[in-house]
Amino acid sequence: MSQACIVGAYNTKFGNFVRKNKETGELTDTMSIYDLTLEAGRGALRDAGIPAADIDGVWVGSCAPGMFANQEHLAAFAAEIDPAGLRFKPMTRCEAACASGSVALYDAVYAIEAGRARFALVVGVEKMNLLGTSEVTHALATCSFWPEEGAKAMTFPGLFAEYAKGYAARYGLSPEELARMLAAISALSYRNGIDNPLAHFGKGGPSDRLGLMTAEAILALGAEKNPVIAAPLRLHDCSLVTDGAAAVVLARSEDARKSGMKAAEIAGIGHVNERLALADRTNMHELIAGKEAVRRAFAEAGIAIGDVDLAEVHDCFSINQLLSTEALGLSKDGRAGFDYLEGRFDRDDRCPVNLSGGLKAKGHPVGATGVSMHALIYKQLVGEPIGALRSRGAPEIGVSFNVGGSAVTNCATVLRRVG
Ligand code: COA
Repeated sequence: MSQACIVGAYNTKFGNFVRKNKETGELTDTMSIYDLTLEAGRGALRDAGIPAADIDGVWVGSCAPGMFANQEHLAAFAAEIDPAGLRFKPMTRCEAACASGSVALYDAVYAIEAGRARFALVVGVEKMNLLGTSEVTHALATCSFWPEEGAKAMTFPGLFAEYAKGYAARYGLSPEELARMLAAISALSYRNGIDNPLAHFGKGGPSDRLGLMTAEAILALGAEKNPVIAAPLRLHDCSLVTDGAAAVVLARSEDARKSGMKAAEIAGIGHVNERLALADRTNMHELIAGKEAVRRAFAEAGIAIGDVDLAEVHDCFSINQLLSTEALGLSKDGRAGFDYLEGRFDRDDRCPVNLSGGLKAKGHPVGATGVSMHALIYKQLVGEPIGALRSRGAPEIGVSFNVGGSAVTNCATVLRRVG
């Protein structure tokens, strides 16, 4: 078991915070990367009730702020969260594609365990919407192995389409069967997103307006409203391009227990890297490295999947939610799609998945996502849920599974309520 606890958390509203003047094309940034960082950092400190002066270091997860928002050296800006308390403190930015947030959190855990820090602040942030779709696609594609996949013009939808094809081939699924499974997954995310006031596609948003709460409604959209992005993946299989931030405060478990803070311990982590090049994978129908990350996190926490009360998984594309569900052991290999079709993993399930609405509805500001997953699970565990409510009483154990790149960086965390 790690020796660190989350003792406070904050998630900003997720969305597209750029206004475009239709006549001039001029962009107005209504919530900048700086605004997002400050709001999340200050919110987490307030939630924890910890003065900034007590923080021994700040870790910032951000994937590509230089490309997305012209700002490298972002960690240094975190001092502005509270200059009086944070100036002269160590600040480190961590980058691991869409798992940047989880990796930042793990590095803060290591500092606490090493005895270098008693309290740490972790912020995850990304500002994506200053760029158009093709530039966003390019920036994200640089997280693949450029000499290989860039040369073949592999976009992230394209990379995960390879997993979808590999999965369908392995289990003999027809294109229609796979499409129904993936639509069931997206519909569940949209239903949960409606109850998350911070979600990018929440109440009154596009998925609500279009009534996309069932697989049938998504499948009925047709090619114009649900175009193919990278076959077999369609628009409603893809996560959103989102601006947002989240933050958590970490403390030594010993201190959290003594002081009676509302805490969730980081009971186990698994951080496992797959090889970067797609050509080096041995198969494309399962998350092999993801399974190993889950095995390590569960072993460290001393739990089995049957002990888990809720999970947030990395649905960057609906196929990855299916693969993640199998990687966690919530479904047997080859069965997750059928389980989702049968209505499993909703809020009435023994273990709901993505009560937040996931990356599909809550949104996916890539560097913020890992921290957001931890923040929202923490909030569920301490009885202050943001997002859909689990219908089966107070949860004790939650798991996050955050993936960076084309299933390359795999981060599984077991969080357990203290007290
Ligand atoms: N899911 C559902 N609807 C989406 C959407 C998504 N992912 N992205 C955009 N839309 C909707 C918009 O709300 C808009 O609806 P409206 O016409 O009712 O206003 C419409 O589709 C067009 O939006 P636009 O931004 O022009 O779409 P786009 O075609 O430029 O972008 C994607 C669509 C799928 C390419 C983009 O969302 C994307 O790249 N997603 C994946 C991001 C990613 O790879 N992240 C990293 C994962 S590892």
